[in-house]
Amino acid sequence: MENSRSAVATDDKLLLRALQGRSVERAPFWLMRQAGRYLPEYRAIRKEVPDFLSLCYNPDLAVEVTLQPIRRYGMDAAILFSDILVVPDAIGVKVAFQQGEGPVLEPIRTAQALDQLSLERLHDHLSPVYATLTRLRAELPAQTALIGFAGAPWTLAAYVVEGGGSKDFAAARTLARREPELFARLIDLLADAVVAFLDRQVQAGAEVLQLFDSWAGALPEDQLELWCVRPVRRIIAELRARHPAVPVIHFPRGVGLSLGHVARQVEARAIGLDTAVPMGEAVRLLPPSLCLQGNLDPVDLVAGGAPMLERLERLRAATRGRPWIFNLGHGVLQQTDPGEVQRLCDELRRVPA
Ligand code: CP3
Repeated sequence: MENSRSAVATDDKLLLRALQGRSVERAPFWLMRQAGRYLPEYRAIRKEVPDFLSLCYNPDLAVEVTLQPIRRYGMDAAILFSDILVVPDAIGVKVAFQQGEGPVLEPIRTAQALDQLSLERLHDHLSPVYATLTRLRAELPAQTALIGFAGAPWTLAAYVVEGGGSKDFAAARTLARREPELFARLIDLLADAVVAFLDRQVQAGAEVLQLFDSWAGALPEDQLELWCVRPVRRIIAELRARHPAVPVIHFPRGVGLSLGHVARQVEARAIGLDTAVPMGEAVRLLPPSLCLQGNLDPVDLVAGGAPMLERLERLRAATRGRPWIFNLGHGVLQQTDPGEVQRLCDELRRVPA
């Protein structure tokens, strides 16, 4: 017999109820990048390690920084502390984070370079991430859901081909146009890695999964179909076959008018909306059973005060009657005042009349 008490407890989590389309007394909330440099206690831990990836691969410290925002603010979900670039790192792309410069990767642009990558060491390399999830699941408050995540293949490929961040990922988009077969091999490898990684995250304790497609908006229609829609659809279908009860949230940042098409094709349980999407339009455009997530501008949280709460009221009004998870439209910015996060979370926890 299943342990019925833990089954009930899981069922009761507000975030899971919203994702199942069940009724909730208020919208569940969490914030992308809720753990991070805006918190002094994060900066203190960060000082203890030589580089950012060492933090991601240290379960003691990763558990601690995941819990920091939960202790302060009691969000309805904790998101695993890690990074999307651990997947390229685990298949053999050299990844480094240099202070103040963002990620630097060994660029992969040829068949020879691609041939050096493999899934062989994936789980070995990522075992500290699985250990982090298992411990989080044991340590989190009973009402807090645990979110695992990965980068979507296109966004990962963009960093891998470019060799780091970029304004427009022109090198990655050029390679995709010039050598579609080579690019397809890279996308397929990354998609296989993402499925294997997320499958193990669920086995280790993740209850919800988010796919970050942060650079989906850099692709024109035909390329979006090839490198985003199709691989993400496959990833979600494979995860659904293995874990039918685990909801996946897709965050296709910047896709604008393609949002409806993307949402219908990939069949995620929820869609993350970026800052530029008017919530009222999303409500009209997207299937009524699809759970919406988003999308307060992170700058509204930096500016704070009454105007921020007014923006929240507008989101509440626009989403009334729809399954909705409050979030930002992108990650918490470093210059955010922790006191403003408190103000926002206090208001979110109040059950509206
Ligand atoms: O949301 C969370 O609290 C969980 C942790 C998390 C991080 N990165 C921690 C992090 C998550 C979910 C991510 C996702 C991520 N990482 C994305 C997708 C979401 C998005 O922002 O679009 C991307 C594109 C990355 C890649 C990445 N990681 C970049 C470009 C950078 C450098 C820019 C920056 O903000 O420094 C990172 C570093 C990073 N990832 C930090 C944190 C807390 C800061 C590193 C530090 O502390 O020195």
